[in-house]
Amino acid sequence: MTPLATLILAAGKGTRMRSGRAKVLHEILGEPMLAYPLATAAALEPAQIVVVVGHQADEIRERCGGAGARFVVQEPQLGSGHAAQVALREMTEFKGDVLVLYGDGPLVRPETLQALRESHAESGAAITLLAMRLADPTGYGRVLQKGKKGSVKAIREERDASAAEKRVNLVHSGVLIAGAGVLRGLLDRLRPENDQGEYYLTDVVEIAVSDRLEVSAVEAADSGELEGINTKAELARAAARLRDRINERHMEAGVTLASPESAWIGPRVRIGADTVIGSNVEIGGETSIGEACTVETGSVIVDARMGNAVHVKPGCVIRESTVEDGVSIGPMAHLRPETVLRQGARVGNFVEIKKSEIGPGSKVNHLTYIGDATIGAGVNVGAGTITCNYDGEGKHRTIIEDGAFIGSNTQLVAPVTVGRGAYVGSGSTITKDVPAGSLAVGRGKQRIIEGWAERRRRKD
Ligand code: UD1
Ligand code: CA
Repeated sequence: MTPLATLILAAGKGTRMRSGRAKVLHEILGEPMLAYPLATAAALEPAQIVVVVGHQADEIRERCGGAGARFVVQEPQLGSGHAAQVALREMTEFKGDVLVLYGDGPLVRPETLQALRESHAESGAAITLLAMRLADPTGYGRVLQKGKKGSVKAIREERDASAAEKRVNLVHSGVLIAGAGVLRGLLDRLRPENDQGEYYLTDVVEIAVSDRLEVSAVEAADSGELEGINTKAELARAAARLRDRINERHMEAGVTLASPESAWIGPRVRIGADTVIGSNVEIGGETSIGEACTVETGSVIVDARMGNAVHVKPGCVIRESTVEDGVSIGPMAHLRPETVLRQGARVGNFVEIKKSEIGPGSKVNHLTYIGDATIGAGVNVGAGTITCNYDGEGKHRTIIEDGAFIGSNTQLVAPVTVGRGAYVGSGSTITKDVPAGSLAVGRGKQRIIEGWAERRRRKD
């Protein structure tokens, strides 16, 4: 097949989003909108991907770079046709077909683009565009056809369309494919003679037709796949569609979703068979969850690696953490970045852990803060324990060795080590290392004053 380059136009500000953020940075399932067309483009394995960015170019590059795409900046933004010109200027060497996608079309699937590519190769048309039929075509460029089915005369933007043209319900999806040489020649002849004074990419159709070149339209089977996002309401609708698509895939692979319409799972998340995901759960980023796990209602998991048979109880927040097999977490626990829970560890309710390792089988079950700590195997951390890791200037580590027992309501003032098998008495403030096998008690001695209560009552 003819070599392919994919252009993604994403420089528009997206005025209709009414936002300070560039449109393609708005998130869907925790990923910027642009990540979706980028992944779709990459699935076609083109010779190159060029993304045209404008507003907040640096942030876009930072969040979407690494996908093997080249980013070019369009400044100022003079329309989609101008954006395509800017991109083609960057790829003067390229001789194959150019597939144009819009950054605000996250739903399009690689299969659909592959079919368009094949149809373009077969028909020999100069330009092939992907059209769709909509009950309400408002806002889209109308595809005006010639007598022959699939043969296109022009694309007319809504604001430049006559009343009769506005009634046409076949619209342009934004996706088109054309030979690089042909496209370059047509783009050079664009004029900003329209209601917005912009260079419209869609005008290449009329110019091609005036040159007696054939432009053909392929009508997409599923118009839902090609809806563009211009408003927050459309963003929410697209998110729901992508959610359903992703959730279907997980269910087919053996994941149980208690409430598929309320499970928001990002496109990069991997989940093993027989895992059960409860309602109102969000899982995003580069998360992987093993087999036979349970994630209960209201939990949020981002960039976590979890083994098999992990139980996440309701209301947990887990970020950038590693959780080994058989661990139980929550309800309402908070694992912050760089937390590692070793096999069979148990973390209970109202526990916050940050940058710490909890060893195999160790328990941190109630109302506790563990920060910058290394906890060995078989340790019991009592209720209300706090690692005092911050002295106002720097962070310090707490080390608790295997088999140690930390009594309830203990403060461990770091840097400090509790040795293997040692005991810390409840209510202690531990400021010095506790040797292995010893008992440390660091609290006021209890006094008993006999008859005190009776005397006080008499005084009143
Ligand atoms: C565009 C099409 C319309 C089509 C619709 C499908 C044009 C002129 N019209 O309309 O026929 O039905 O998409 O969703 O293309 N962009 C740039 N630089 C610019 C301007 C735009 O990169 O200077 C990018 C935008 O980021 C966006 C795309 O081009 O991804 C389309 O621009 P947008 O303003 O959203 O066009 P629509 O009005 O939606
Ligand atoms: Ca658009």
